[in-house]
Amino acid sequence: MCGIVGYVGPQDALDVVLEGLRRLEYRGYDSAGVAVRIGDGASGELASAKKAGKLANLEKLLADSPLPASTIGIGHTRWATHGGPTDRNAHPHLSADGRVAVIHNGIIENFAALRTECERRGVEFASDTDTEVTAHLLAVAYDELPAGPDRFAEAMRVVCRRLEGAFTLVATHADEPDTLVAARRNSPLVVGIGETADGTAEYFLGSDVAAFIAHTREARELGQDQVVEIDRTRGLSVTDFSGAPAEPTAYTVDWDAAAAEKGGYDWFMLKEIAEQPRAVADTLLGRLGENGQLVLDEVRLSDQDLRDIDKVFVVACGTAYHAGLIAKYAIEHWTRIPVEVEVASEFRYRDPVLDRSTLVVVISQSGETMDTLMALRHAKDQKARVLAICNANGSTIPRESDAVLYTHAGPEVAVASTKGFLTQVVACYLVGLFLAQVRGIKYEDEVAAIVEDLRGLPDQVAQVLEQMEPVRALGRSLADSNTILFLGRHVAFPVALEGALKLKELAYIHAEGFAAGELKHGPIALIDEGTPVVVVVPSPRSRESVHGKVVSNIQEVRARGARTIVIAEEGDEDVVPYADHIIRVPRTPTLLAPVVTTVPLQVLACEIADTRGYDVDQPRNLAKSVTVE
Ligand code: AGP
Repeated sequence: MCGIVGYVGPQDALDVVLEGLRRLEYRGYDSAGVAVRIGDGASGELASAKKAGKLANLEKLLADSPLPASTIGIGHTRWATHGGPTDRNAHPHLSADGRVAVIHNGIIENFAALRTECERRGVEFASDTDTEVTAHLLAVAYDELPAGPDRFAEAMRVVCRRLEGAFTLVATHADEPDTLVAARRNSPLVVGIGETADGTAEYFLGSDVAAFIAHTREARELGQDQVVEIDRTRGLSVTDFSGAPAEPTAYTVDWDAAAAEKGGYDWFMLKEIAEQPRAVADTLLGRLGENGQLVLDEVRLSDQDLRDIDKVFVVACGTAYHAGLIAKYAIEHWTRIPVEVEVASEFRYRDPVLDRSTLVVVISQSGETMDTLMALRHAKDQKARVLAICNANGSTIPRESDAVLYTHAGPEVAVASTKGFLTQVVACYLVGLFLAQVRGIKYEDEVAAIVEDLRGLPDQVAQVLEQMEPVRALGRSLADSNTILFLGRHVAFPVALEGALKLKELAYIHAEGFAAGELKHGPIALIDEGTPVVVVVPSPRSRESVHGKVVSNIQEVRARGARTIVIAEEGDEDVVPYADHIIRVPRTPTLLAPVVTTVPLQVLACEIADTRGYDVDQPRNLAKSVTVE
């Protein structure tokens, strides 16, 4: 949602913070702001700058009116929740006396009562945000505590104990020349520990490791309800909200700054689309054993736990939900366990039937999506087993799950998920096949063959990518469309949904995905002369002639004037007479086909958005990880 950076060390804090914000801007781009602490000795001042709009606006402001040099600073990039995306509501927020500056990610649910309390004390608020109360409360708490090395952290703990909701807070104080304090509940915060070339220690805070990846890969993961202090000389110390010491988990980030650069591509999205063969290969790496056996070391559930499962729920949001829909087809077919798929924001509110023998698979690229996290917690409260499929090491969702299967997509910066999706789908296959393996398999030969087929997926994705030039040209020709429909059956139905979502979020064109067979029950009325309809055609080898039925669906829409864009397997000649455009994909087993058929839809949406002149990486109104419900 929002991006947060903090720095204490020998370098120029503003440079470090702005560089971190550039890497975190995908988390929100409604406004950006920074604050630095200036002055020698114990009593200094804060200087801050903030601006609505993208980070570039703040950078321009700072170029015109630079802040004084400092070695301690904080920065924020915002996705607006409380209060519009204006200069006034941009973070940091300062206390009434200007001695404390705070940045925040999340929502403080009891802010109204706290605001009234502050106003009764005579505080005049300078913004419409929920965040600002924390700056005022922190200033008061600090002033009421005796001087001492722990004063700032204790003030933060005093404030946190009063807050409800979700928050990552980072604060700087004019009287604290060496120390930043931060806290987290239900929102992400990681610490980076580095050293400059001359051996001087430096400390970083970030919403995720991208904030400091250019400086260090040594990270510390914080637990729920913890306060962290980073101090130039005392280093790092972590406590819970009551002050009891806590030990953060150390880990080394397994990618470097280059992985989070555009690498010569116009857009991060294009780079991430191109990385998909590698991402899929890395997700499979080390997991496909000899003789069709799967090796999933990170699944910390016993074989008996897995044998006891009698129902699976897959719970996720957006694109990850579409991966879950594909998982249903695969897991049910391979394991014969019933699978339900549900959007996380609905899951817990309808009181689903869960118990010890239910496996809940939560899928999240970021590992921080609040709806998914809350669904996970609900599942655990009901005693269900939770397995997370996640891309972000050190994030909250895998930490709170019973087991985790990491996708190894590498950092995904573009707001629209691409390699995140493909690797989630692959991870779902691995979960399904693993369950089948542990529980005994109905289609033994088929499952063993599929395990081998998985090995071919990276090359097949690479083949699709080699043929994308005509898809780009097609995208340019579709850029003026008002509506584009997407059809699919069986596993191609979620692919159609994903194609429509990509187009909506990037190109702001009305798009809908339908189960191809449902079209005749209503949506076919949408089709007018020239309406583009993208049809994802299953393999001619798919069961129960789904292929033939989809070919009929293409004819039905064409007869009503649709411009048909058909994604079909190489050698499928049946579609040729009814396709205005054909996009070919390699022959792939039916259940694995989404890994190849999704790729042209990503490229199509990206090209249409680019042609329409939109920011492909940072579409309007969106943020990469949605850390509010
Ligand atoms: C995809 O392109 C999205 N922008 C969005 O739907 C995303 O997949 C969803 O918010 C879930 O995110 P997560 O995987 O990080 O939980």
